[in-house]
Amino acid sequence: SKSYTVTLLPGDGIGPEVISVAKNALHLVASLEGIEFKFKEMPMGGAALDLTGVPLPEETLSAAKDSDAVLLGAIGGYKWDNNEKHLKPETGLLQLRAGLKVFANLRPATVLPQLVDASTLKKEVAEGVDLMVVRELTGGIYFGKPRGFSTNENGEEIGFNTEVYASHEIDRIARVAFETARRRHRKLCSVDKANVLEASMLWRKRVMEIALEYPDVELSHMYVDNAAMQLVRNPKQFDTIVTNNIFGDILSDEASMITGSIGMLPSASLGESGPGLFEPIHGSAPDIAGQDKANPLATVLSAAMLLKYGLGEEKAAQRIEAAVLSTLDRGYRTGDIYSAGLKLVGCKEMGEEVLKSIDGKVAAA
Ligand code: NAD
Ligand code: IPM
Ligand code: MN
Repeated sequence: SKSYTVTLLPGDGIGPEVISVAKNALHLVASLEGIEFKFKEMPMGGAALDLTGVPLPEETLSAAKDSDAVLLGAIGGYKWDNNEKHLKPETGLLQLRAGLKVFANLRPATVLPQLVDASTLKKEVAEGVDLMVVRELTGGIYFGKPRGFSTNENGEEIGFNTEVYASHEIDRIARVAFETARRRHRKLCSVDKANVLEASMLWRKRVMEIALEYPDVELSHMYVDNAAMQLVRNPKQFDTIVTNNIFGDILSDEASMITGSIGMLPSASLGESGPGLFEPIHGSAPDIAGQDKANPLATVLSAAMLLKYGLGEEKAAQRIEAAVLSTLDRGYRTGDIYSAGLKLVGCKEMGEEVLKSIDGKVAAA
């Protein structure tokens, strides 16, 4: 049988709670599909800082590089918030993304019929939304130089960062986005701030150039402020969105609320080769950590993306996706997606119900 090594990075806060659920789901689906997983759990983020003094130990990065796929929970927390830059959990995450060269971050936002009522938008606005944010992940203002702290001519303290994109970075993310749009509804909206920023002017120019390779995909451009507004005005106008690192970060959190909760949204980060990195788009949720309240479905769905995009195990991926739908059909809800009359459960119980759904040992609703 096929055997895969998966590096698990539980991280901080709710990270270990949601990873435990996703690991069990992968384990069960593997036994049903004749796949074998070797899980290797490694420290990352605040947990790694406490253990080793750095947020991404060399052993963690090399284990990640040597595996077939990486599944991350979340990192960060109050305890480390005032650490120096190089000792922040978030810096470890950026080092991991850069180290794995995963420049393309796919963040799907789908309004499931079961969760239309959990959306903060009106039913007729939310229902049927199915969009994909393709976020550039290893460039832009997150990595641009110069950056740092200094003093200005008045002797005042300043902090500064640089939004910078080279044409090859834009070209490769644009190609991923066009390919993604091609497998969806062939509509791509490139989001930028080309009315103000030079990095966005180049972005728009290169995306238009790459578009010539994809005459079958309808390309549009939108300024990011308008895009933020359009996402809540009429999200169904979007199919695939491609944007830079920071705009993609912000717009995907916004898109998550259309679907009901940030606790539902998975992601896949892919490079030209090597293992992909799979993680929910949410953070470590320190406000609910350790209380068994987290919604594990974003991580379970990230495990499904791992199977599909990372390992090419479509059938196993579909099995997990179907199990999530069936668990929702059977009325189970964590607090973030709860509405009256349904069954309020914690993270663990949600995980147990997902396992029952994968097993097919429960009747469909
Ligand atoms: P967050 O996503 O952790 O939480 C925002 C809000 O959403 C909180 O109220 C939280 O309780 C809720 N929430 C998030 N995930 C949930 C889930 N699965 N189920 C139910 N509710 C959920 O964002 P934040 O509060 O801005 O950041 C907290 C920490 O997480 C910070 O240290 C931040 O840097 C870090 N962070 C890490 C990642 C990551 O690891 N990829 C992503 C975002 C933020
Ligand atoms: C995310 C997070 C990260 C980001 C942080 C924690 C570095 O917000 O994965 O969306 O900004 O990319
Ligand atoms: Mn984010």
